[in-house]
Amino acid sequence: MAQLWKGRFKKELAKETNDFNSSISFDSRMFEEDIKGSIAHATMLGATGIIEKSEADKITAELSDILDDIKSGELKINMGCEDIHTFIEGELTARLGQTGKRLHTARSRNDQVALDIRMTLKKEADSLIEKVKGLINVLCDKAEEHKETIMPGYTHMQRAQPITFGHHLMAYASMLLRDIERLTDAYNRMNILPLGSGALAGTTYPLDRQMVADLLGFDGVSQNSLDGVSDRDFCVELASALSLIMVHLSRFSEEIILWCSWEFKFVELDDAFSTGSSIMPQKKNPDIAELVRGKSGRVFGDLTTLLTVMKGIPLAYNKDMQEDKEAIFDAIDTVKMCLTAFTPMIETMTVLKDNMRTAAAKGFINATDCADYLVGKGLPFRDAYKATGELVALCIDKGVTLETLELDEYKNVCSIFDEGVYEAIKLENCVFNRKVEGGPSPESVEKQIKLARATVDSLPTPNENDKAEKYNLSEEEIKAISHIFAVPLFHSSFTQNH
Ligand code: ARG
Repeated sequence: MAQLWKGRFKKELAKETNDFNSSISFDSRMFEEDIKGSIAHATMLGATGIIEKSEADKITAELSDILDDIKSGELKINMGCEDIHTFIEGELTARLGQTGKRLHTARSRNDQVALDIRMTLKKEADSLIEKVKGLINVLCDKAEEHKETIMPGYTHMQRAQPITFGHHLMAYASMLLRDIERLTDAYNRMNILPLGSGALAGTTYPLDRQMVADLLGFDGVSQNSLDGVSDRDFCVELASALSLIMVHLSRFSEEIILWCSWEFKFVELDDAFSTGSSIMPQKKNPDIAELVRGKSGRVFGDLTTLLTVMKGIPLAYNKDMQEDKEAIFDAIDTVKMCLTAFTPMIETMTVLKDNMRTAAAKGFINATDCADYLVGKGLPFRDAYKATGELVALCIDKGVTLETLELDEYKNVCSIFDEGVYEAIKLENCVFNRKVEGGPSPESVEKQIKLARATVDSLPTPNENDKAEKYNLSEEEIKAISHIFAVPLFHSSFTQNH
């Protein structure tokens, strides 16, 4: 298909060059944002008298039809075009003739693509937040169920102190809540309208940029045209937030994989979320968790791609920046896919409480509590620590546990021991007395769940904007641009109140 910029050129673009230059195979997914952006731009061109109002009306109505036709499948996107912007504008002109050619007044593809990618990433950030919320809700439900399920907590992969499974799960909920904050933060910074920056140096037309920002649900307009077209910080920020989500999912996956092994057997995955071996009939493999762990590499790679693409390019727009899309889209799609598979896997897994309790009974994970008991009786902690260490060594020699060691043996090591030690080292007491804020006791876990649920519930859900009124748009005009109002929004007040 012919290029938009052909006036200066005497020859057609070589096929190889066209294939190399073209971005439509990956930017066509922004068709809706491109059309909505164009509708808002044309509405503003008409409202400000930059083009005839009647022509603007025709353009917005036709763009709406094009959007409907693409969505219904009636209009196929021509993959021979240079990019989605070229395709939509070409289609509009094919349908409207001369009038269609007025759409690109006071606009460049440089600010157009900067707009489209921001709109697309805003929508994606919203849907990512919804998916992360879904996982947090599942974790809260499971944690509620297991707020009294005792398991060993680990450091250095060695049994360390007793905790509850609910507490362990809520650690991941805490990470994911931070992930939502990071996504929201990235969202807020991408929520600035770049349109009006032109190719790089703004425009001489009297644009009403605020009107376009309001119509599209942006919080404000960019303040420097060079930065407006060449800023991709928000892609990097989103990729960085996504990378951290993958770090969290990958750590969680690693634990799931360990917990599924015969060595641990703390959980069993539902058949619907595990796979078998083609040769070993006994196998039940945690492939989903392994794939999530493996796919984290892709997302980190995408972040590195974006940083590397951006680091050496002079101002303003350079074609290198077309490379932003595949990287950020891949990161988004990968994280969404991972969350979609991971969340129901966690929801349906069976927790083998008894195995957790048995593991907790071994490994002297109540040794700190034994030392704390002595501290309660007046011994300095270092002395208590030493005496307990000797007791542990004695138990290992004798093949017994602190629970089954005779009181005489305790007294031989330190005379202030009495019967009370057995209560103090009971795992249930060790865990349930850790009531400190953020601790593993059932009350504390209950509070963590309550706060996590409240945070998730208080996050604003995408809603519509009401800027049509402000601009006194007629019913017909509202209809023509009605698609715009379905753009999901966050109120900027969220971050202020949060
Ligand atoms: N496909 C291009 C991109 O994604 C659109 C912008 C083209 N601008 C230009 N000056 N060639 O970056």
